Amino acid sequence: MITVDNLSKEFKVYEKQEGFKGAVKSLFSSKYKIKKAVDQVSFSIDAGESVGYIGVNGAGKSTTLKMMTGILLPTSGECRVFGVDPFTNRRNNVKNIGVVFGQRSQLWWDLPVSESFSILQKIYQVPQNRFRENLAFFKNILELDEFYLTPVRNLSLGQKMRADFAASLLHDPKVVFLDEPTIGLDIVVKDRIRSAIKDINAQRNTTVILTTHDLQDIQEVCRRIIVIDEGKILFDGSIDALKTNYGRWRNIHFEIPLTEQGEATEPLFPPDSEGIEVIDDPSGITVKFQRDMHQVGELISRVMKMRQVRDIKINEPEMQDIVKAIYLKGSAGRTIGVQ
Ligand SMILES: Nc1ncnc2c1ncn2[C@@H]1O[C@H](COP(=O)(O)OP(=O)(O)OP(=O)(O)O)[C@@H](O)[C@H]1O
Ligand SMILES: [Mg+2]
Repeated sequence: MITVDNLSKEFKVYEKQEGFKGAVKSLFSSKYKIKKAVDQVSFSIDAGESVGYIGVNGAGKSTTLKMMTGILLPTSGECRVFGVDPFTNRRNNVKNIGVVFGQRSQLWWDLPVSESFSILQKIYQVPQNRFRENLAFFKNILELDEFYLTPVRNLSLGQKMRADFAASLLHDPKVVFLDEPTIGLDIVVKDRIRSAIKDINAQRNTTVILTTHDLQDIQEVCRRIIVIDEGKILFDGSIDALKTNYGRWRNIHFEIPLTEQGEATEPLFPPDSEGIEVIDDPSGITVKFQRDMHQVGELISRVMKMRQVRDIKINEPEMQDIVKAIYLKGSAGRTIGVQ
């Protein structure tokens, strides 16, 4: 349904010099650097998928989405949405897609939400009964009623986002591109937007491509994630695959009664043990270990023999920690693709 093949976008960044004199000088010089915002990115997305597109600030997420929605022309490579080039076939493409850029509203500033929706209905030629059905669906799920007749300029951020989200879906697009749709929202509104995304994906089979810095969004909404860094794809696969690939460390927490803490003298593991780390905390100890080097059972029985243990908890690595580790490492030209 969507194919992206060696897609790249370069920007010319003109070098401006500091100060007034510099600004005048810059007017007459044409010194520039090439910034590769997206660098030979390839992937394909099937109908009904929900894909999280994540990466650090400036990684190239919005630029990719802009090329996929026909806003920007790629420098090289190809992008096809329903078999057509989104840039040269913009008119055809917009019928099939819905777009939300969290930072920008597509609604008419001075008009009430209701009027904006009516205009969109006419632009996209949505039949009246379908429009009513959709409106009822989104009014219900996003609670639009309380501000439906309010001019957009008077809406709060969260209200605007809810209206924008509904607006992008009134014409039943087959795919929706969401660029940070939950930015700056409170937990309740975030939840509403998330469940709306889940609903349109599950009930209407709408394909979802979601960019966000909130990993909870990804965990709740997406089955697949693509990680991009410095314009290149670092990872493409399921959340489970991400955990298996990168989450080699596990934690076991042993709760030790206060009276017993500090009693032991003998260390739990030889000081040079590889792939093991013991961390003390107020309620006991945490044994951090590499799961390909150590067996959970063996570690537990060893600690149980040597310490008074009241309770045990085994922790899977949090997605947040894994993603942070990937972001910190950066690309360095590596590509790890696991489907
Ligand atoms: N119009 C432009 N002209 C020059 N450089 C640009 C332009 N648009 C984006 N860039 C640069 O391209 C890179 C990628 O930007 P992009 O907006 O795609 O990042 P992003 O992944 O969406 O980041 P964020 O999480 O901050 O939204 C950045 O270094 C940015 O400065
Ligand atoms: Mg962005």
